[in-house]
Amino acid sequence: MHSSYSSPQTYIDDFNAVDYYQTYYSSEEGRLHGEWTNFALQNLHETFGPGGVNGHVLIDFGAGPTIYHLLSACEAFDIIITSDFLEQNRQQLEKWLRKDPDALDWTHIVKYVCELEGNSENWEKKEETLRRKVTKVVKCDGLAKKPYGNEPMPEADCLLSCLCLEGPCKDLEAYTNLLKKFQKLLKPGGHILLLGVLNCSFYHTGKTKFSWLSLTKDDLESVIKKAGYEIVKLKVIARTEKSWMDISNHDSYYYVHARKSQKETSCI
Ligand SMILES: C[S@@+](CC[C@H](N)C(=O)[O-])C[C@H]1O[C@@H](n2cnc3c(N)ncnc32)[C@H](O)[C@@H]1O
Repeated sequence: MHSSYSSPQTYIDDFNAVDYYQTYYSSEEGRLHGEWTNFALQNLHETFGPGGVNGHVLIDFGAGPTIYHLLSACEAFDIIITSDFLEQNRQQLEKWLRKDPDALDWTHIVKYVCELEGNSENWEKKEETLRRKVTKVVKCDGLAKKPYGNEPMPEADCLLSCLCLEGPCKDLEAYTNLLKKFQKLLKPGGHILLLGVLNCSFYHTGKTKFSWLSLTKDDLESVIKKAGYEIVKLKVIARTEKSWMDISNHDSYYYVHARKSQKETSCI
């Protein structure tokens, strides 16, 4: 597996943000615009809904060119800092935030989240809320000692990451180390939400195949505990849509809600 690991340089050279959106999220042909988005959006809706997780600052790690996962969070947080490793993805995020005519179109997904919230006619207001709450788009690197380098980052009430960590992390040790680094970004008792796919070794974006660290449910549980978090909820559901195994070979979807210990006082 290591021989086919997609290096940071491969991401820089070959990850096409528009191809990624077209392949997985567009309303016409998006392969994830089905099981994955329904699973992720439903769980995020329940997490950030009334009486759920909320606070001042949410850090979003490895957004890619996407905003779908922030649509419920924007009702529960004052400030959202989103991030990605790649400039081409950050450019797409900036375009959407400034309503550039060339921006990726998330309308179908915004409307879906508004329906979950019982407010289907309010989709434009939700887009405005999210645009207002995202205060910056910054570079992150899960392989760096400090994932945000010298960027000043406030302590977060919540860190969210969807479909990201299994890309840069070559093995379980790297994954655990990255989760440990996230501890420093969170307030004591802060929430961490991880969503992704299990038993997956690759995915395609356009013509490029990217490696993915294949995790089982037990692996996931063990790395989260090893990194010092307390698991609040871990949910796994099986993939039923099997017609595009050539695009990505995952067999299930996961959602994890965990918390940093209350006792931690240091943020350094
Ligand atoms: C499969 S995409 C996921 C995008 C998005 N979060 C989603 O839910 O669709 C994987 C993401 O990992 C990011 N990535 C690659 N190398 C990284 C690194 N060293 N540190 C942080 N993120 C990285 C890529 O830029 C890409 O956006």
